[in-house]
Amino acid sequence: MKIAVLGTGMVGRAHVGRLSELGHDVVMGTQDVEATLNKSEPDPMGGDFFVTWHEKHPDIKLATFADAAKESELIIGALNGQVTLKLLKAIEPNLSNKVLIDISNPLDFSKGMPPSLFACNTDSLGEQIQRALPQVKVVKSLNTISADIQVCPKNLAKGNHVVFMSGNHADAKAIVSDLLKSYGWQQIIDLGDIITSRGAEMMMPMWLQLMKTEGTSRFNYQIIKD
Ligand SMILES: NC(=O)c1ccc[n+]([C@@H]2O[C@H](COP(=O)([O-])OP(=O)(O)OC[C@H]3O[C@@H](n4cnc5c(N)ncnc54)[C@H](OP(=O)(O)O)[C@@H]3O)[C@@H](O)[C@H]2O)c1
Repeated sequence: MKIAVLGTGMVGRAHVGRLSELGHDVVMGTQDVEATLNKSEPDPMGGDFFVTWHEKHPDIKLATFADAAKESELIIGALNGQVTLKLLKAIEPNLSNKVLIDISNPLDFSKGMPPSLFACNTDSLGEQIQRALPQVKVVKSLNTISADIQVCPKNLAKGNHVVFMSGNHADAKAIVSDLLKSYGWQQIIDLGDIITSRGAEMMMPMWLQLMKTEGTSRFNYQIIKD
């Protein structure tokens, strides 16, 4: 499938690498291709400089967000939460009638750590994107999971852990579910329509606290029931 991954951070990198391994025709989106290829600052999360990462993945095509989305059937949004709505709105015509998997979180770091949520309780970033882009089939998923585990749940060896998804369109969720299964996910919980992305996004304060308390981002949630 022709897939655009919008985002050059650790989430975008994880998805393009995995999708490429799985044989998809994948393109990575960025604001400015030349600027991204010439970035000299290290990844904030301690990963490779972009250029070093790209040298290890020379087959990955890089395009502007607009061009990447235009030539693709499925879009993965792996964008900084504070700018995701603005960036997606700017390329709206190239997203119309397509499925968008939104992985972003509405994190506001403006008052330092821990971040707060700029959408919560009665709204969510997933809903904001769906409202702003009514012609796009938005599916919120994977936002509660570390990048490398998102694309390969077996990277977390222990336990039968889960991935959530939320969205208004059953056909879009079927496509996303197939993609998640191809990544190796077995426990996919369809929470319901896009309003349910409130709950998934509001797990982030807890997730960030657990990362601090447990000293690792390599964990995920497991649901135990009778
Ligand atoms: N890191 C994780 O493990 C993880 C796990 C679950 C969910 N998430 C969520 O996934 C999303 C992506 O996370 P990430 O860590 O891969 O990358 P990120 O640093 O949050 O976002 C990077 C992307 O956002 C774009 N961007 C545009 N304007 C920006 C601005 N003013 N400031 C910062 N970035 C801007 C960048 O564009 P350029 O390409 O032009 O630089 C880049 O493509 C986030 O919403 C995050 O909360 C992350």
